[in-house]
Amino acid sequence: MANFGKSLREDFFLKDGYVPLNHGSYGSYPKQIRDKLHHYQMVAEQNPDRFYRREMFPLLDKNRKSVAKLLNCDADDLVFVTNATAGTNSVVRSLMTEEGAQLICFSTAYNAVERTLAYVEDKYKVKLITVELNYPMSNDAILAKLEATLQANPGPIKLAVMDAITSVPGVVFPYERVCALLRERGILSLVDGAHAIGQIPVNLRETDPDFFVTNCHKWLFTPRGAAILYVRRDQQYTIHPALINASYKHHTKPNDTSSTFQSEFSWPGTSDFSPYLCIDDALSFRESLGGEQAIQDYCHRLAIEGGHAVAEILGTEVLENEDKSLTACMSNVRLPFNPSSQVSESDMTNMIIDKLLYEENCMAAPYYHHGQWFARLSAQIYTGLDDFKYVGHALLKVCKSLEQ
Ligand SMILES: Cc1ncc(COP(=O)(O)O)c(C=O)c1O
Repeated sequence: MANFGKSLREDFFLKDGYVPLNHGSYGSYPKQIRDKLHHYQMVAEQNPDRFYRREMFPLLDKNRKSVAKLLNCDADDLVFVTNATAGTNSVVRSLMTEEGAQLICFSTAYNAVERTLAYVEDKYKVKLITVELNYPMSNDAILAKLEATLQANPGPIKLAVMDAITSVPGVVFPYERVCALLRERGILSLVDGAHAIGQIPVNLRETDPDFFVTNCHKWLFTPRGAAILYVRRDQQYTIHPALINASYKHHTKPNDTSSTFQSEFSWPGTSDFSPYLCIDDALSFRESLGGEQAIQDYCHRLAIEGGHAVAEILGTEVLENEDKSLTACMSNVRLPFNPSSQVSESDMTNMIIDKLLYEENCMAAPYYHHGQWFARLSAQIYTGLDDFKYVGHALLKVCKSLEQ
């Protein structure tokens, strides 16, 4: 079992002195994965034709099979996409093109996802129904709110979009229960699991969503630009990449045996496929530390302990519900902060970020949720309790200085 915490920092490129509690935003990958990335890029460079026409594809298949095993699904139901934005765009823009079709989302949807839904609303006159969430909420309360929304909108609803773990607040969403409810009601489910793989166990066979997107470049330790899109077999004929390419074909039936789902996603145009090839290497690195369970247990425990330490420093509290189901590897702590109402939310967010990055040499993601300010703090294998305490004191200083 690895010695988690500070001693693992040496395996990453993070600059000395910088205290990073924001793994959730962009991820970070180990030095040995960088070597692998360069290796694949060099192989491509040595003979681009061999690599891009022949040798890359079996390597991609091998990585797809490994990630399918981790997600417990069939590799043929997975494709690579560069990021969660591309994956969610592919699904929403393939499906939601009929005027008046109804679409459900939650008020905590990630900004790029929310804007994609706004796009189909504007362009195709899709009707968007938003379920308001105000944390801390229990999973039962979320399900009850969704049920009430469905009752109030009896017309057919085509698709519902939800998170596996929401960005801000950085909380676990009961997507398994929501997918089950939607299936009962004949509504398709799209899970934005950008934060899921590597942070929480995912079992697609058991959950059985229609669509699931997850970023390997956040919590799995691949270089940026590696994400997975899962599409249930009977929906594959409906989905095309957000960027149409040479393999596009129109399909009309679920049992269309000429479905081009795999081929349409296999060549999104010329680009660097190396981040996908690092998935196996990232999984080996994780195995060398004790595997998924050991990593997720360490990060979960640290998120809880660290969150409480920060709340104590700030004199506030951790955002949690009575069942303690919100925290995976990110904790959310309220900031003791009543800023001037003259400053906009986005300006204030940027002011806090600038102070954390350039004056305090650390980072945790600040955000505003239902009238209060919070910081989202990511635990990771290269962080420890001292890092949380450092960021807690930095946040206190920043709040005081911005309130003056
Ligand atoms: C919940 C959620 N969805 C989608 C995304 C977008 O991910 P990407 O920028 O890799 O497309 C993020 C990024 O932080 C996220 O937190």
